[in-house]
Amino acid sequence: MITNKMRITDVVKAYPRAVEIFNDFHIDYCCGGKDFLEDAIQELGIDSKSFIDLLNKKLAKTAGAADTGQVLPIERLEKMNVPELIDYIMETHHTKERDLLAECDELMNRVLLAHYGHHPEQVIPLHGLFSDLRKELQEHFAKEEKLVFPYMKESCLGNGNSGYVKELEDEHDAAGNLIKEITACTNDFTPPKDGCASYHLLFQKLQELVKDIYIHIFTENSLLFQKYEEEQSDEKTC
Ligand SMILES: [Fe+2]
Ligand SMILES: [Fe+2]
Repeated sequence: MITNKMRITDVVKAYPRAVEIFNDFHIDYCCGGKDFLEDAIQELGIDSKSFIDLLNKKLAKTAGAADTGQVLPIERLEKMNVPELIDYIMETHHTKERDLLAECDELMNRVLLAHYGHHPEQVIPLHGLFSDLRKELQEHFAKEEKLVFPYMKESCLGNGNSGYVKELEDEHDAAGNLIKEITACTNDFTPPKDGCASYHLLFQKLQELVKDIYIHIFTENSLLFQKYEEEQSDEKTC
């Protein structure tokens, strides 16, 4: 049973399908996972009791559904050690997001050219925001893959540098802020009525990218980094 006194990250760990509802209501479960649900609801300005009731009802209905856990296979992830989690994140999220960034980049350029004349208020800022996000993510993935993740795998035996964790969390916050701006700029990924097929596809792919980034950041902030820091403080091997 979910209560508003729970931290958002604990709700997601106990009920992975909550991410779908959090996405709909724009509750930040990745960078803001450490916040209490109560505070996030208050920020939205909605009635706390009604929202918690809705959450519990929806999650009770979908409990045991065949696809439960596929988007976020929490039970499997919680059993993984640090090197296994790192490999999973790179194979699952880095690969998928690189592909989506490339697809969105091509579509973004097509939409910019086709709609520059009649939707400049949307396509120009969106092009800038998407370019910033792509740059941030490409550099962030390179830093994780070439520097921090190999270091984390090796430092499982001790001498960890949690400064790296803070750096990556700060970069996640920066990406999260760009995503919030993209969500607002696209009217929550709703293309204009006269938008062409590429416009629609761009918004669909951008939303797919954003949803994957949320799960990706949650997996790093709330599972990988937490496990890494616990293992460092316990001086356990992993
Ligand atoms: Fe990552
Ligand atoms: Fe990351």
